Amino acid sequence: MTIEEVEVEVAPGFKARVWAYNGQVPGPLIHVKEGDDVEVTVHNLTALNHTIHWHGVYQTNSWRSDGVPKVTQQAIEPGDSYVYKFVADKPGSLWYHCHVNVAEHVGLRGMWGPLIVDPKEPTALEKEVTKDVVLMFSGWNSDVAMEYGKGGHPREVADYYSINGKSFPSSQPLRVKEGDVLRLRLYGVSSETAYHLHGHDVLVTHKDGLPLKSPYWADVVHVPEGARMDVIVRMNNPGRWINHDHIEPHTTNNGKMPGGAVMIVEYEGIEKDDWYVWKDKDASYDPDFYMSEMLKKPYGMHNHAAFKGTKIKKKKKKKKKKD
Ligand code: CU
Ligand code: CU
Ligand code: CU
Repeated sequence: MTIEEVEVEVAPGFKARVWAYNGQVPGPLIHVKEGDDVEVTVHNLTALNHTIHWHGVYQTNSWRSDGVPKVTQQAIEPGDSYVYKFVADKPGSLWYHCHVNVAEHVGLRGMWGPLIVDPKEPTALEKEVTKDVVLMFSGWNSDVAMEYGKGGHPREVADYYSINGKSFPSSQPLRVKEGDVLRLRLYGVSSETAYHLHGHDVLVTHKDGLPLKSPYWADVVHVPEGARMDVIVRMNNPGRWINHDHIEPHTTNNGKMPGGAVMIVEYEGIEKDDWYVWKDKDASYDPDFYMSEMLKKPYGMHNHAAFKGTKIKKKKKKKKKKD
């Protein structure tokens, strides 16, 4: 895996400079099975120090792979590499993120991605799932987005919010069929969220990867920062439904509605009205925006072109004359 300096477009007209795992935000999906040996060699191609912390992994007998600078390792310096090696000893919806200046690197610079560990013994409910999707919620600060080294301040106010790195309307619709059993893996990456899906109740089944002894029904699910909540929904109400963060400012782009952490669930076979916001976007539809196709592929690390950033154009400096 590399760490690269790139620019990502979060919302129409809003770009952010990030340090991105494999040049993409979210970072690549790492999908393994409980008990697998995981080895990731990280090459830091940026101008600052970074690490990877594997959030949720117990790191039994592998604490040096926990990714905390000055505690378990020296941060990976520009041009250097580090090998993380551990056993996937905890199943569920885990994730990884940088552990250097977390408030900036994770809070504002896209240094995060999903680590999904399939359990050896899935619950009866998990076995019923027909569509498995990943939703990672994060906030952004447009005031400092283009300047590395700025931001991550305790009084910072985010002004853009996103799911999988895109604010509405750049987020994609999620297409389902009646009868689908949908599993949503909700990640509070750098923004908490009060997740709400219209027209359905959801069954909360896992917290931070751990199966709940008593799954419970809800129509708003709070996901604190850092946490993951898995919910399972029976898609039994055909229509077109908004999914949104119910913390109202999180549904704006720099204060303008509609925007932010919002996406639409479209049932197959529902006619698209002329005025529907997503009516004309079929050509740009990305079926893997929520990683459901990737999750069906063999285990390993999966990049996604749609999450890739673009190279930063460096301003040409005038050559200084040396005397
Ligand atoms: Cu970092
Ligand atoms: Cu963490
Ligand atoms: Cu609503």
